[in-house]
Amino acid sequence: MILPIIMAGGSGSRLWPLSRQQFPKQFLTLLGEHSMLQTTANRLAGIEHAPTLVICNEEHRFSVAEQLRVNQIPNSGIVLEPVGRNTAPAIALAAMLALSKGDDPLLLVLAADHVIKDEAAFCNAVNKAIPLAEQNQLVTFGIVPTAPETGYGYIKRGDALSHCLNNGLGNGLENSLENALGFNVAKFVEKPNLATAQDYIATGEHYWNSGMFMFKASTYLQELKQHSPKIFAACEASIANPQYDVDFIRINQPAFEACPDDSIDYAVMEKTQHAVVVPMDCGWNDVGSWSALWEIDDKDEQGNVFKGDVIGINTSNSYVNANEKLVAVIGLDDVVVVETKDAILVVKQSQVQQVKQVVEQLKAEQ
Ligand code: GDD
Ligand code: MG
Repeated sequence: MILPIIMAGGSGSRLWPLSRQQFPKQFLTLLGEHSMLQTTANRLAGIEHAPTLVICNEEHRFSVAEQLRVNQIPNSGIVLEPVGRNTAPAIALAAMLALSKGDDPLLLVLAADHVIKDEAAFCNAVNKAIPLAEQNQLVTFGIVPTAPETGYGYIKRGDALSHCLNNGLGNGLENSLENALGFNVAKFVEKPNLATAQDYIATGEHYWNSGMFMFKASTYLQELKQHSPKIFAACEASIANPQYDVDFIRINQPAFEACPDDSIDYAVMEKTQHAVVVPMDCGWNDVGSWSALWEIDDKDEQGNVFKGDVIGINTSNSYVNANEKLVAVIGLDDVVVVETKDAILVVKQSQVQQVKQVVEQLKAEQ
């Protein structure tokens, strides 16, 4: 059985001022009528699965519970992290919890804050991953890269995998690339520098890591124990005696505070010998900036996206999001304006990545 794990503990600082520490990106309704968390859960409708397990920071527990409730999303619990220790420990807690119930499900690990336009293609790739994960592989979902982005993991494609898996993996040289179920991972590199990313793009042999994974709970824990034993041990101590409080699952705070902070990408995926990649061509976007959101949203004839009460005159290629007040823009091109109750952002599209610096400055001043 597939147990979806939604990782909802990120801070989403590049979408400030809408995304805040108290209410980060995954809880925002940025496209359509549901929040990113709700949309993540809803897109599982085409896949047979157990009720979703959400893992988030304790301070967001009511946002998560409320968003699941109003969207009628069945869940098998909301694991509360007293502090953020990144994704390797978050997934470990979920895997250990599943095993403690006597199950060894296939974990479908999902980020709570991605946009996927083609849900059928998403479900198709997930279904392809099932037999691979059942054979103790760590399955990544690969996106064909379009630019040398340095914020992503890069997966070098190895041998094609056969549809007939009985003889083991990697015996599929006879398969054409199009027919392959997936590929062995020759190399996984998390967040390379620009020159390296440019080299990878030039080879045409790399995918971006989508940040979604599928594996058996036991496979992940085995690999984590081997490659990052301190995280494994700290998580084991943290989840030894979970406290159930309605849907909330609380863990041992001091034990989890002592856990090293690391992502699955560095702690496991860069090191494991058992990774495979299933390509996923699904209109994926991780909405890493206001410009990314402008790109994927529907635009008017001048190339604008206006949200809320906006008047635009002689304005083009701009994203304007008015939350509390009427916002009027005149004579702008290639600009992002986001208005909220207590902060206003005005930035050129080309410099939206620097929004993160505003958040850092605000934190430093606190
Ligand atoms: N529960 C929990 N706890 N969730 C977390 C934590 C945590 O401490 N930290 C992050 N998350 C959640 C975020 O909310 C997000 O949904 C997901 O885990 C990924 O975290 P990010 O912080 O957004 O990772 P990233 O974007 O830098 O990199 C990852 O995603 C890229 C694709 O978007 C990596 O997997 C890259 O390899 C990948 O290319
Ligand atoms: Mg991300």
